[in-house]
Amino acid sequence: MGYNVAIDGPAGAGKSTIAKLLAKEKGYIYVDTGAMYRALAVHFLRRGIKPQETEKIIEAVKDAQVGICYEDGVQQVYLNKENITSQIREEAVGQMASMSSPIPEVRAKLLELQKSLAKEKDVVMDGRDIGTNILPNADVKVYLTASVMCRAKRRYDELTAKGTSCSLEEIEEAIRERDERDMTRKTAPLKKAEDAVLIDSSDMTIEEVVEQIVKLCR
Ligand code: DC
Repeated sequence: MGYNVAIDGPAGAGKSTIAKLLAKEKGYIYVDTGAMYRALAVHFLRRGIKPQETEKIIEAVKDAQVGICYEDGVQQVYLNKENITSQIREEAVGQMASMSSPIPEVRAKLLELQKSLAKEKDVVMDGRDIGTNILPNADVKVYLTASVMCRAKRRYDELTAKGTSCSLEEIEEAIRERDERDMTRKTAPLKKAEDAVLIDSSDMTIEEVVEQIVKLCR
């Protein structure tokens, strides 16, 4: 059994940034489970399926295979043997991932992959239901959050730094919507596991958050 660190929290809380740094410092493998839902989302979008078309999603998920491998320590995501890592960060893919991930058949598709990665290796895995559902016996559980305003501002800064023009209000609205969907869905909703340590990163630096989690690890 590997040593397992679970980090859950809402979109934009900094989970992936923190998890990557923690993985580097402690020599763990970083497993980004959101990327797996995004890979399935690419599959649905390629089929021309709309996020509301649940029946079509359930049918399409049957012939999707998601695979993960690591190149120089960076996670690569495969959809039916094609490396689609560069395609998963688009806004439409994120929206489709958020809207299709409540469907039990979609979650079931990724369950074994996530569990088996954690069984074999020392991992830090981030997502929405890792501490509550996927790795209930994780050695360390963290629920990482930040205020909506703060998460919206971080996303806004990230996009404007890339030269993408955007509106802070629209980003804030999209984050609220995504939180609502991720937290109120019936299957594996986003919530803090009882034994998870709550970290609110609103007024913390990245280094401070990493340091706090490092202290929780063996
Ligand atoms: O973390 P992210 O933004 O890449 O995740 C995209 C969507 O995937 C997110 O809105 C909800 C879903 N997701 C999930 O349901 N369970 C996970 N463990 C990870 C992501």
